Amino acid sequence: MMGKAGLLLLMLWGCTVCGSQTSMQRSPQGTLDFGFVPCGVYETHAYFEPGPIGILFHLVHSFLHVVQPNPFPQDLITKVAQQKLREVKQEYKKAIYYEIGFIVCASLGVLFVLFMPLVGLCFCMCRCCDNCGGEMHQRQKKNADCRRGCFVTLLFVTSLIISAGVLCAYSANQNLSTQLKGVRKLVNSNFRDLKTFVNDTPAQIEYLAIQYNTAKNKVISDLDNIGPLLGSRIHAQLGKEVLPALDGALGLAGAMRETKEALENVSVSLEVLQEATDSLQVNLVNEQARLSNTLNDPACSSPGVSTTCSDIRSTLSQLSISANFSTLPNVDTELANVKNVLKTDLSNIVQKGYSTFNDTPDLVKNQTTNIVSGIKSMLDDIGSNITSFSKQIPVQDILANVTLYLSQSQSYVEDYYPVIDKYDFYRWMGCIVVCCMVALILTFNFLGLLCGTCGYDKHASPTTRGFISNTGGNLLMAGVGFSFLFSWVLMLIVMIAFVVGGNVEKLVCEPFGNRALFRVLDTPYLINPYWKNFLPGFLYQNPEIDLTFEKLYSNCKENKGIYTALQLDNILNISNYLNTSIYTKDVVDMFEFVNVNLSDMVLLDAKAKQNLLNFTNTGIVSINYDAYLAEINKGVTKVDLLSFANNLESQADKLPKGALENALKGHASSIRFIHGQQVVPLEQAMSTLNQSIRLLQRTTSDLPNKVNNVISAIDAAQNLITNNASLIITQETKKYMEVMIGYFKQYLDWVKNSMMMEVATCKPVANIVDTVEIVTCSFVVDSLNTFWFGLGCCTVFLIPSIIISVKLAKFFRRMDSEDVYDDMEIGNNGYHNEHLHGIQNPVMTSIPSYDTMTRFPRASAPPRQAEWGD
Ligand SMILES: *[C@@H]1O[C@H](CO)[C@@H](O)[C@H](O)[C@H]1NC(C)=O
Ligand SMILES: *[C@@H]1O[C@H](CO)[C@@H](O)[C@H](O)[C@H]1NC(C)=O
Ligand SMILES: *[C@@H]1O[C@H](CO)[C@@H](O)[C@H](O)[C@H]1NC(C)=O
Ligand SMILES: *[C@@H]1O[C@H](CO)[C@@H](O)[C@H](O)[C@H]1NC(C)=O
Ligand SMILES: *[C@@H]1O[C@H](CO)[C@@H](O)[C@H](O)[C@H]1NC(C)=O
Ligand SMILES: *[C@@H]1O[C@H](CO)[C@@H](O)[C@H](O)[C@H]1NC(C)=O
Ligand SMILES: *[C@@H]1O[C@H](CO)[C@@H](O)[C@H](O)[C@H]1NC(C)=O
Ligand SMILES: *[C@@H]1O[C@H](CO)[C@@H](O)[C@H](O)[C@H]1NC(C)=O
Ligand SMILES: *[C@@H]1O[C@H](CO)[C@@H](O)[C@H](O)[C@H]1NC(C)=O
Ligand SMILES: *[C@@H]1O[C@H](CO)[C@@H](O)[C@H](O)[C@H]1NC(C)=O
Ligand SMILES: *[C@@H]1O[C@H](CO)[C@@H](O)[C@H](O)[C@H]1NC(C)=O
Repeated sequence: MMGKAGLLLLMLWGCTVCGSQTSMQRSPQGTLDFGFVPCGVYETHAYFEPGPIGILFHLVHSFLHVVQPNPFPQDLITKVAQQKLREVKQEYKKAIYYEIGFIVCASLGVLFVLFMPLVGLCFCMCRCCDNCGGEMHQRQKKNADCRRGCFVTLLFVTSLIISAGVLCAYSANQNLSTQLKGVRKLVNSNFRDLKTFVNDTPAQIEYLAIQYNTAKNKVISDLDNIGPLLGSRIHAQLGKEVLPALDGALGLAGAMRETKEALENVSVSLEVLQEATDSLQVNLVNEQARLSNTLNDPACSSPGVSTTCSDIRSTLSQLSISANFSTLPNVDTELANVKNVLKTDLSNIVQKGYSTFNDTPDLVKNQTTNIVSGIKSMLDDIGSNITSFSKQIPVQDILANVTLYLSQSQSYVEDYYPVIDKYDFYRWMGCIVVCCMVALILTFNFLGLLCGTCGYDKHASPTTRGFISNTGGNLLMAGVGFSFLFSWVLMLIVMIAFVVGGNVEKLVCEPFGNRALFRVLDTPYLINPYWKNFLPGFLYQNPEIDLTFEKLYSNCKENKGIYTALQLDNILNISNYLNTSIYTKDVVDMFEFVNVNLSDMVLLDAKAKQNLLNFTNTGIVSINYDAYLAEINKGVTKVDLLSFANNLESQADKLPKGALENALKGHASSIRFIHGQQVVPLEQAMSTLNQSIRLLQRTTSDLPNKVNNVISAIDAAQNLITNNASLIITQETKKYMEVMIGYFKQYLDWVKNSMMMEVATCKPVANIVDTVEIVTCSFVVDSLNTFWFGLGCCTVFLIPSIIISVKLAKFFRRMDSEDVYDDMEIGNNGYHNEHLHGIQNPVMTSIPSYDTMTRFPRASAPPRQAEWGD
């Protein structure tokens, strides 16, 4: 009682402690590893393997099944247990029907016990009166040898069977003694397990409490990383809007620098082009004039030549520049404006905007310092509350009491060992004596058989049999005498053991195996008529709780925690204590105060924005790029000078050789020279101008819009940071907080799970029940059953043994008289006058049996009737 209360208190304490804390579950971020609850190793293996004698056990079980094949009478037993005697009386037929096998067997046993001494007495007296084979006379029969051999064999076989039976009984007896020696070890290991169970439980609960640190450390590490964890999430969310805006501004800053460069290129190349085209034009005009002079040569007027000359003359006007850059305005003003705008280093400002924005994690960290330290101290508070809980509970007292109780029980049990040993020794002796009775009979039988067989002399007539043979016969008769003396005692023992052992096996051991016994125990209102379920009624004064012996046993057999097995949640529902919200309420409140203020964050200041606007006002937008492109597209000269020179040369080749031809070729080469010296560089300058103008055109097309877009994007981003960020910050903070709470939840769930499955696993309780079952059923009842089975076998076979022994003794003992029988007279028909053989002598049918005596007169012929031994 004290132990039960102590154990219960211990469990309650465990639950309370766990109440202040929690399990393993998936959380949005990271799963905590709480390790394994240190578990006590239980050494008891409540399992019994009987070894070779198990074969005998099986044999006996089969026999019992034949005797009593009915299923376990649960209803009947329940009613008996409920002491509803009237109902039981009405159902006595059922009980009788159930027990019919036992009743029949026991009745046979009773008959045996009653009649065996009686018959023995009669037989003895009968023999004393020289009847019942008592007379020392043996009729001579033709097949005497055969009968003798037959009897010897039968008696031998019977004796062997009896030997087997007595061996069976002996080994059962020995087995019980041996197994009972093991009981002590089994009981001790059960006690050790119980102590482990009691002693380990505080350490397990302490482990649960300590593992709070795992959760706490994880929370602290996350709090320390609030910048990277929370800040970068806020940063990422805001970045979706902020970064593109800043990228746009940075792009514009780049465009400004490019614009300046392009304008410079335009300015320079325009100047170059203007000068170069002027000098080219001068050279071309001169060349034109010189060529014209040459064509005025008289040789040109000769027929055949004049057409060529006039052809050349008609192309003269082509020797002229095409693009005229002198009319194009220069871009100096715009260049100056742009340079002015560029004095403000916009890219630098944008870079600062980036870095300010990227400082968000740091900012979040700086602004949450107070909250983080607040939560940390709160964690410490919870931790110290948990620790103080475990210190407040008087666990040492309870433990001391439980341990004391266990030690007391153990020494109490140990006090009984000598008594058990003593009585077991008496039992063992008793069984040995019983076995010796059978052994004595067997000894007479075997010795008798041995002497009789060895002393057999073929030529000896019944009256001349040797001493040894006679002794054999006497021994057999002694065996018979002892059989009569002992058999009813043996049968009495067998019968009692059979009725007790068989019924215990059928009503206790078998139903335990298939748990039917638990079902009886768990019958509502059985043990206590006012309680539906006894166990919860006894433990918690609440018999409505669905806690049965079977559930308790099964849960403990599966080594679940005692919290689950005893359904302690009915007294102390840890779910209520392990409610996450209890522990996280304050944390949640604390996070309410998280207020990251980003309003100081400025992406681009007003000056930078003005700078952007000023860029559009530099005049680059209004430059007439098409005019430039139109000139550029005209090309440097009206005609390609190289092809002009080639053409001139080929014309000259048509002319007759002479001065004109040479002069024309000279002009061609000087035109080539002009091309190489002036046109090629001009073309390069034009290409540069082409590039720059096209770049400017691209940049400036829709420039005001682009700038406005960038500025409004920046404004929107800034607005988001200043005004809308709090929304995002709240969302992200909530997610962050849920991760923290997830750690608490994991811990609390883990504690709950561990309490149910791993703390104070109650296998020892199931082991105790199993141990009782093993000792009762496997050790005692099985041995007892095997004992009566073997002994019963002996006792039953004593009957044939007696009959055969008496018959056989006649063949061994020396007779006082013998048949003098005439071979001639009766041997002819080949029949002995032997009614016992059941064969009627066809010749003598009509002759009454007493005639035998007259026809074959003898000194003392035995009567034919009621012969026991012949
Ligand atoms: C300016 O001219 C230089 C040299 O001709 C050239 O490398 C550069 O790409 C030009 N810049 C622009 C923007 O056209
Ligand atoms: C280029 O244009 C200017 C101004 O219109 C003009 O004076 C000049 O003669 C032109 N040059 C040529 C080669 O046509
Ligand atoms: C955060 O605080 C530290 C030290 O107080 C300071 O050096 C750092 O500049 C601060 N960061 C921000 C983003 O305000
Ligand atoms: C710790 O325990 C004290 C009193 O025992 C209680 O007032 C306090 O709220 C508890 N703190 C936490 C975090 O549970
Ligand atoms: C332990 O046992 C003693 C006496 O047996 C009793 O006075 C005490 O209250 C018990 N302690 C607990 C915690 O049950
Ligand atoms: C224990 O508490 C939980 C949650 O509060 C509840 O679901 C459960 O039914 C309770 N158990 C008992 C036995 O009261
Ligand atoms: C946990 O406690 C809160 C209030 O403290 C309650 O609303 C909630 O139902 C409880 N949850 C469980 C599972 O008991
Ligand atoms: C943010 O800080 C600025 C000054 O740094 C203050 O004027 C403003 O009110 C703060 N905003 C919030 C929502 O606290
Ligand atoms: C923009 O132009 C205005 C006048 O046009 C001038 O006063 C101002 O300083 C310029 N701002 C910048 C940043 O260039
Ligand atoms: C000017 O540049 C464009 C594209 O870059 C090219 O298609 C065109 O031919 C160039 N014009 C001249 C005259 O080089
Ligand atoms: C900013 O806040 C307003 C109202 O508070 C809301 O309608 C809008 O969608 C928010 N913008 C962003 C980008 O969250």
